[in-house]
Amino acid sequence: MNKSFNADLVRADFPLLDQEVNGHPLVYLDNAATTQKPRAVIQALEHYYQMDNSNVHRGAHAVADRATRAFEAARASVAKFINAARVEEVIWTRGTTESINLVAQTFGRMVLQENDVILVPVSEHHANIVPWQMVAQAQGAKIIPIPLTEGCDIDLVAFDDLLSRHRVKIVAVNQVSNALGTINPVADITAKAKAAGAAVLIDGAQGVAHSLVDVQALGADFYVFSGHKLCGPTGIGVLWGKKELLDAMPPYQGGGEMIETVSFDGTTYNQVPFKFEAGTPNIAGAIGLAAAVEYLEAVGLEAAVVHEKELMRYLLDSLSGLANVQRIGSPQQSVGIFSFLVPGTHPSDIGMLLDQQGIAIRTGHHCTQPLMQYLNVPGTARASLSFYNNKSDIDAFVQALDKACGLLV
Ligand code: ALA
Repeated sequence: MNKSFNADLVRADFPLLDQEVNGHPLVYLDNAATTQKPRAVIQALEHYYQMDNSNVHRGAHAVADRATRAFEAARASVAKFINAARVEEVIWTRGTTESINLVAQTFGRMVLQENDVILVPVSEHHANIVPWQMVAQAQGAKIIPIPLTEGCDIDLVAFDDLLSRHRVKIVAVNQVSNALGTINPVADITAKAKAAGAAVLIDGAQGVAHSLVDVQALGADFYVFSGHKLCGPTGIGVLWGKKELLDAMPPYQGGGEMIETVSFDGTTYNQVPFKFEAGTPNIAGAIGLAAAVEYLEAVGLEAAVVHEKELMRYLLDSLSGLANVQRIGSPQQSVGIFSFLVPGTHPSDIGMLLDQQGIAIRTGHHCTQPLMQYLNVPGTARASLSFYNNKSDIDAFVQALDKACGLLV
């Protein structure tokens, strides 16, 4: 792995960043919503569609064989990237949301009984709440939120208490909060949950781009993420699960590829991972995601994360002079996500005034309405960094925010 991280060279790999918006150079600070794609990913998609496009695991011809080999090589690249013990533990899905729905509707239905409990932190995004609510309703189980401390970290004392007082079957927790940037102690949470007999799903949607993930070291049963927040294409994601659990789980959707034999008397199912991959998969997406993880390995994700942390420190220092800007949540550990309010103004007005100056951020509830209710705020403005951002981006953001405050407050 190349440890000598060169921020300028890396930035030049992302063609989209080189444009003007509203007459200003684009400053893209909406990376928690989706990251931009390096040329290597764009080229991998183009190459696939120009040269290798075919269906996988089906064709009797050379192009289909190339597509199948590229598709399965992509699975192996992703398995290596997250240190999965076995390649077949990597299931392709459409993204984090589909991965969680899959686990809820298969594993959840398999293990949950009346009055069993699913624990999720208050800070979860809707994708890690609603699928559990749906399966809880079907099984007569309950979903209980884990409260937060004043700084918006997961309250581990309350978590211990919930584990001891309820029959907890599943704990589903995000590695990093998309709304606040909090890095949650997921290995610790997993160890506690497992000791109490619960299964654990870690939602790595925001975590996977900000840390080296080792699913074996984390110790959870399931780890899920989306490709598009990791410099890969949209519409492709991953469910990693322990092989013995995946083997025991019923299929999610029925159709081609997930079967072994079909007759009107009954159907037998394929082995994992194919048991969970009904229909023609997102072949180009998988190949594009593999190109993204190979790109990140070449850049050096560890060094990229260090650069992003330095940028976050620079952002916090630079904003300390803006008295009107109030950070929402002050987690002990956070990635480059800065959620804020300017009291007396609406976040969407801040977003609009920043956009007029070429700065892209997200405003609103960030798909975390329960968290916004808990914090008693209508929403926030959120600037989120990636390793291809630089100090000039932060300077432009701070200057534009200062100007917006001057106009609104
Ligand atoms: N979950 C994504 C975000 O935080 C879409 O913006």
